[in-house]
Amino acid sequence: MKNCTKHPLPEGKTQQLLIAPSILAADFAHLGRDVTAIDQGGADLVHVDVMDGHFVPNLSLGPAIVKAIRNLSQLPFDVHLMLSRPVQYLEAFSQAGADHITIHVESEGPLPCVLSAIRQLGCSAGLSLRPGTPACSLQPFLDYLDLILVMTVEPGFGGQSFMQNQVGKISEIRAMIEHSGRDIRLEVDGGISATTAPAVLAAGADILVAGSSIYGHPGGIAAAIAELRQCQKG
Ligand code: DX5
Ligand code: ZN
Repeated sequence: MKNCTKHPLPEGKTQQLLIAPSILAADFAHLGRDVTAIDQGGADLVHVDVMDGHFVPNLSLGPAIVKAIRNLSQLPFDVHLMLSRPVQYLEAFSQAGADHITIHVESEGPLPCVLSAIRQLGCSAGLSLRPGTPACSLQPFLDYLDLILVMTVEPGFGGQSFMQNQVGKISEIRAMIEHSGRDIRLEVDGGISATTAPAVLAAGADILVAGSSIYGHPGGIAAAIAELRQCQKG
C-alpha cells in the first residue's frame, strides 16, 4: 500500500521510462538556472545527491538548498541520501520538498523503521546499494519499497565511468521485483549516457539518473534527455 501525499511515482507497469538528471553536475554558481534548464529540457525527475562526508568521501548539499530550488520546478524531487545515519534528516528533506527519498542498504537502520518513516512523511521510499553489495541484500526489505536504486559507480562523485559488471545485478533485481509481484521502480545511477543506457534498459531499469552526460552534452540538455529516451526504443 502506497501512502504518497506528494508526487507519486508512476506505476511500473506503465513502462514509462523516467529520466532523472542529477544536479550534482550542475554549475552550483547558477544552480537555479540549471534546475530550470532540466525542467524545460524534458526531465521527469530532479535527482538530488546528498553526501555526508562519512558514508561517502564527499560533501554536497542539504535541505536548505533543496528548499531554495524547490519552487523552480513542478517536477518530483528524487533525493538520494548517501548518509551513514539517514533517519536524522528525513523530516528536513521532506519539508524541504523531497518527493522520493532513497537511503542505502549499507546505512544505519533498522531499515524497516527508516523506510516506513519515509512513507509516513508521504514520500516514496527507495533503497540503494553500492556496487559491491549483492542483490540479495534487498530481499528482506521489498515490502517497504517503492524504488530500488542500483549504483553503477562507487557513490560519492559524479563523472565516473560506468561499471559494466553491475548489469547482471540489474537483471537479477528486475527478476526479484517481478517475482515479488510488487510495484517497485528500478533506477540506475552512475556513468549513464546514451552509450551505457541500452544495456541498463535491456537489463530492466526503468529510471535513468544521469549527471555529466546531461549537463555536459555538447548539443545541450534537451538533446541529451531526448537521446536517453531514444535508448528505450532501441
Ligand atoms: C554519485 C551520485 C550520482 C552522480 C551521477 O554518488 O549518486 O547521482 O551524480 O553522476 P554521473 O552521471 O556523472 O555519473
Ligand atoms: Zn545519485
